[in-house]
Amino acid sequence: MPKKPLRKVVFPAAGMGTRFLPATKAIPKEMLTIVDKPLIQYGVEESLASSMDEILIITGRGKNTIEDHFDISAELERNLLAVGKEKMFKKISRISRMANIAYVRQKQALGLGHAVLCAAPWIGDEPFGVQLADELILGKEPAMQQLRTVHEATGASVIGLVEVASSDVHKYGIVKAKQEGDLLRLDSMIEKPSADYAPSNLAIVGRYIFTPTLFEKLKDTKPSINGEIQLTDAMNQLAHEEAVYGVVLTGQRFDAGNPEGFLAANAILGLQHPDYAPALTLLLANILAKN
Ligand code: UTP
Repeated sequence: MPKKPLRKVVFPAAGMGTRFLPATKAIPKEMLTIVDKPLIQYGVEESLASSMDEILIITGRGKNTIEDHFDISAELERNLLAVGKEKMFKKISRISRMANIAYVRQKQALGLGHAVLCAAPWIGDEPFGVQLADELILGKEPAMQQLRTVHEATGASVIGLVEVASSDVHKYGIVKAKQEGDLLRLDSMIEKPSADYAPSNLAIVGRYIFTPTLFEKLKDTKPSINGEIQLTDAMNQLAHEEAVYGVVLTGQRFDAGNPEGFLAANAILGLQHPDYAPALTLLLANILAKN
């Protein structure tokens, strides 16, 4: 049983987005659009649907448009009303009022672990969520809610997982786990192993709930060879000290932080969107018929 309620969630968004250059040279990766909304909005909506309404976004240089997106744009709202665009007005004003969002700046991109550590004063002594907005996970039950269910039953840290092909394990943090009743308990995790060394096919995909003990582990974590403080290193230390569980997530998942996953997300979600599906389906059918 958790000692304190889970209310807070952190979105690290201060990375360089190198896999998506040049698109991310001047635009934050988190502001790339899937169909008609930026990635970070999907993320915030998932947190809210999982009853986490205190949100902290870790930003860095060149990330101001994230703050603008969630800010009230009085002029835009007035103009939309003046020209009778009530429906769009409602959509736009909802974005700026959907959540209480705070921002902390990570002055140097010293790694995901360092970005999470920047949240420590804001979190205090409470359990908290961490979400990576470029991992888009959509389904009946929000991914963070799936983690919350296990956290509420155990009071422990919980990590979101998906099964990946052996040929893809080298792209992910991969866990070693064992069944403990209905739960999957994590022994350890390894960053980007080759297929020969991977302890399983279960990959970590940007959804976490942590007890505040993680901060102690992050403070003790030394930078890795590339100079970054790795979240995975601190998670390994945490798993030595307390129970850490894994949840194999249900839902559609897209790694939208690289062009391939981003294009797949736009194509598939576009084909599912009631406003755009009819025309898009026709267009794609025509293209395929010609090829
Ligand atoms: P990634 O490993 O995806 O790095 O970081 P990245 O810089 O965003 O993208 P690539 O790999 O260079 O293309 C995972 C998450 O951690 C955040 C990123 O913004 C992303 O949400 N992050 C990473 C930080 O906030 N600070 C950092 O120093 C590094």
